[in-house]
Amino acid sequence: MPRGRFITVEGIEGVGKSTNIAFLARLIEEQGHRVLMTREPGGTPTAEKIRSLLLEHGDEPVPDVAEMLLFFAARSLHLSNRIRPALAEGRWVVCDRFTDASRAYQGYGRRLGLERINTLAEWVHDGIDPDLTILLDAPAAVGMGRAEKRGAADRLESEQASFYERVREGYLSLARAEPERFAVIDASGPLAEVQAGIRSALTRIVG
Ligand code: TMP
Repeated sequence: MPRGRFITVEGIEGVGKSTNIAFLARLIEEQGHRVLMTREPGGTPTAEKIRSLLLEHGDEPVPDVAEMLLFFAARSLHLSNRIRPALAEGRWVVCDRFTDASRAYQGYGRRLGLERINTLAEWVHDGIDPDLTILLDAPAAVGMGRAEKRGAADRLESEQASFYERVREGYLSLARAEPERFAVIDASGPLAEVQAGIRSALTRIVG
C-alpha cells in the first residue's frame, strides 16, 4: 500500500484555516483518497491535554523553552499514535498546524531562533515531513481582527500586535526558503480565490 500524503495548513489566527481545511479535505476525498483531518497542538487524548496546558491562562509563568518543548511533546505523541499509522495505511493526513507553527511562533514570535527548533524537529519527526504546506497569509491586523470576533482570547492569542507581525514575517521567510514545499495563498481575498489557490496547490502532489 503506498504511503499517504501529509499536508499541513499554516497561518496566523483568523486567516480562515478551519473553513479551508474542510474544503481541502473534501477535494482530496473527491479524488478517491481517505483523509484524516487533525490538528496541532492535539490530535490524540494526551496531546489534547497538553494543548489545554498550553492554551489556558494559568498563574505560573510559562518559560519560552518550556512552551517549545510542550509543543514538541504533543507533536511526538501525535506523530507516533495518529499521523504515522494513518500514513502507513495509505490515508492522506491534513493537519491544522505543524512544526512550521513552532518555527513561526516560537522561533520568530518568541525569538528563540530556528536552530534548536530544527534540531528538535529532526529528532521528533524521525523522517516524517510534510509533502505540501499551505500557508494562508494575511496581514496580522486582518487576522487578529477576525480572531477577536470569535470571543475570549486564549494564552497565545493574548500577545501584542508586534508578536503576530513577527510570526507572519516568519512564515513568509520559511516559505521563501522552501518554495517547493510551501504554497502561499493570499487569505485576505475572496473565499472563491482562496479556494482556487488551494485547488491549484493540491495539483502539485496529486498524480
Ligand atoms: P489553534 O487554536 O489555531 O489551533 O492554535 C493554537 C495556538 O498555538 C495558536 O496560537 C498557534 C500556537 N502554536 C504555537 O505557538 N506553536 C506550535 O508549534 C503550534 C502547533 C501552535
